[in-house]
Amino acid sequence: MGDKNVLEIRHLRTSFFTQKGEIRAVDDVSLDVPEGKITGIVGESGCGKSMTARTVLRLLKYPGKLVGGEILFDGRDLTKLTEKEMAKIRGGEISMIFQEPMTSLNPVVRVGKQVEEALRLHRRLPAREARRQAVAMLDAVGIAEAEKRAHCYPHELSGGMRQRVMIAMAMICKPKLLIADEPTTALDVTVQAQILNLMKRLRDNGTSILLISHDLGVVAQVCDTVYVMYAGRIVEQAEVCELFDHAAHPYTRGLLGAVSSLGSGAATLETIPGVVPNLLHLPAGCAFSLRCGECRADCAGHLPELRECAPGHRVRCHRIGEVSA
Ligand SMILES: Nc1ncnc2c1ncn2[C@@H]1O[C@H](COP(=O)(O)OP(=O)(O)O)[C@@H](O)[C@H]1O
Ligand SMILES: [Mg+2]
Repeated sequence: MGDKNVLEIRHLRTSFFTQKGEIRAVDDVSLDVPEGKITGIVGESGCGKSMTARTVLRLLKYPGKLVGGEILFDGRDLTKLTEKEMAKIRGGEISMIFQEPMTSLNPVVRVGKQVEEALRLHRRLPAREARRQAVAMLDAVGIAEAEKRAHCYPHELSGGMRQRVMIAMAMICKPKLLIADEPTTALDVTVQAQILNLMKRLRDNGTSILLISHDLGVVAQVCDTVYVMYAGRIVEQAEVCELFDHAAHPYTRGLLGAVSSLGSGAATLETIPGVVPNLLHLPAGCAFSLRCGECRADCAGHLPELRECAPGHRVRCHRIGEVSA
């Protein structure tokens, strides 16, 4: 472990080419996932988090299309690989887990068998050895009586147990990178906490994780670094403590639940008014200007750069330089 990045995304662009026009779901996104850390992407629904993850794994469906950028993984640019090379990486070197385990698990196959198959897809192993490793992995992700539970069908397990099975499937090939897209969203808070603790344990054992969530609370609990996304763009990035202590972007502060209006005292908002705008009709400038309480006349006209406002802390807002100046 060190300062090495497992994944470096550079100027990534993914668009949906629809009859109504181009929807820029991922618009010039750059991010690093350092080895042995949990890196978070947070933002409201529709901000482009899942599309970023799907682009990395090259799982885009028509009319979604990679428009530009680089995805550097382990010295290779994933955008340049053939489908066959990519298939080897998916589930082998990079694994992904999703929000709803039931849709990714096969309902008619015992869970132990499914973990075993995930392993045998990428590694040639005798059946007995694959079985032993599958049970060991179910045990490692906190499934009690793993030997017995391996014989269960998905519907015989609780939501939390099913998500653990998904994590076991994702981890069985010892991926260099785990991408978890809203892994706890469908779970109640107690189970959510258990799954997040499991993520931390995986991290402490050296797994690099990209964790996607709409919930800043989830991100706060486990992430080392956080990227805040809004309308397809990164609007803020910082180490988790820095972000929570010194959130700079009005959107991030909105997500934090307390937006203080600059200058005149503090106005507290429970939530950010309005919704993520239709990505077909974005202003040329800051996309958040439509909902921002601190917006000035020219915010919608000019796109702010993502600028460093403190070491390792970057923000895309016209008002930030102004405030510290
Ligand atoms: N099949 C699709 N066709 C057209 N646009 C889509 C499609 N899927 C997603 N999008 C666009 O991509 C944006 C980002 O989606 P997504 O990455 O799933 O958001 P998130 O995961 O942050 O909730 C959506 O707001 C939508 O505008
Ligand atoms: Mg999503």
